[in-house]
Amino acid sequence: MSTRGENATIDRVGVIGAGAMGHGIAQVAVLAGYQVTLFDVNEAALRGGLERIQANLDKGVELGKVEPEERDRALAAISITTTLSDAGKDASLVIEAAPEDLDLKREIFGKLDAASPPHAVLATNTSSLSVTRIAEATKDPGRVLGMHFFNPVHIMKLLELVRTEHTTESTIATARAAGAAMGKTCILVMDSPGFASSRLGLILGMEAVRMLDEGVASAEDIDIAMELGYGHPMGPFRLADLVGLDVRLAVAEYLYRETGSERFKPSETIKRLVSEGKLGKKTGEGFYKWNNE
Ligand SMILES: NC(=O)c1ccc[n+]([C@@H]2O[C@H](COP(=O)([O-])OP(=O)(O)OC[C@H]3O[C@@H](n4cnc5c(N)ncnc54)[C@H](O)[C@@H]3O)[C@@H](O)[C@H]2O)c1
Repeated sequence: MSTRGENATIDRVGVIGAGAMGHGIAQVAVLAGYQVTLFDVNEAALRGGLERIQANLDKGVELGKVEPEERDRALAAISITTTLSDAGKDASLVIEAAPEDLDLKREIFGKLDAASPPHAVLATNTSSLSVTRIAEATKDPGRVLGMHFFNPVHIMKLLELVRTEHTTESTIATARAAGAAMGKTCILVMDSPGFASSRLGLILGMEAVRMLDEGVASAEDIDIAMELGYGHPMGPFRLADLVGLDVRLAVAEYLYRETGSERFKPSETIKRLVSEGKLGKKTGEGFYKWNNE
């Protein structure tokens, strides 16, 4: 039996959505020792998510980072379902990683509110939407917060916890405990457009494109400036290409709309690249040309 609070024990975790983020969250959750129920509306996505987890764990064994028994135990601890209430049932924590659509997330949280035990913490992995608006689709917004993981989930150490004015301390404590068990370092941020990570990361990215447009330096040299001058693992152009320029543009437009600040105004260059289908690594070209073989 789980409780919400300082001594929260988490046993069963529901994960909503088995895509790029959901499968990764399910993977770190089973490796943390939790039982996981992974839900998706799409059966093929569920099977694909499970295959990716298996492949990641096999790779972990190959590299000596995961014991074979640990892999087998982790795989045995995941069940998959296309019934949302199965993912909420008996869960101490449910983490939603469905598509970035406010109405969809509000609908899911309304259903989870009814389908999960009252003590369960409900988390959204949204990267930009208002956690407050999502929480307000439930009867108890005190048990809702953002748990913003980074891609790829099994590699990236940061977990941004996003609290609203409703979120209780015990909800945060439960999320912190789960994050630590999953091997993540948690930061705590108030719900505001772009949270901490996207807001600051985007400012750097947008300013870098303005510098390119003004002819200050090439994309390569601006990247080297941040890599060697500031110790960033990769510069803003390489990073934008990896994230996807369409994703970057959508977040910039959202923050520009929400804050009205010129700092987030997307440049014509990024709009042009997106309209030409140059979305970065995933399409083979963005600011750089990528050899995706
Ligand atoms: N991809 C990233 O780098 C990244 C990083 C941080 C946060 N996020 C956030 O994580 C969330 C998921 O993003 P993603 O990249 O994993 O997307 P994705 O498209 O890879 O996966 C979304 C999954 O949700 C499923 N789905 C569709 N409708 C659903 C529903 N009603 N209920 C449950 N599942 C449903 C889809 O079948 C798909 O498998 C978004 O909110 C996104 O903003 C993404």
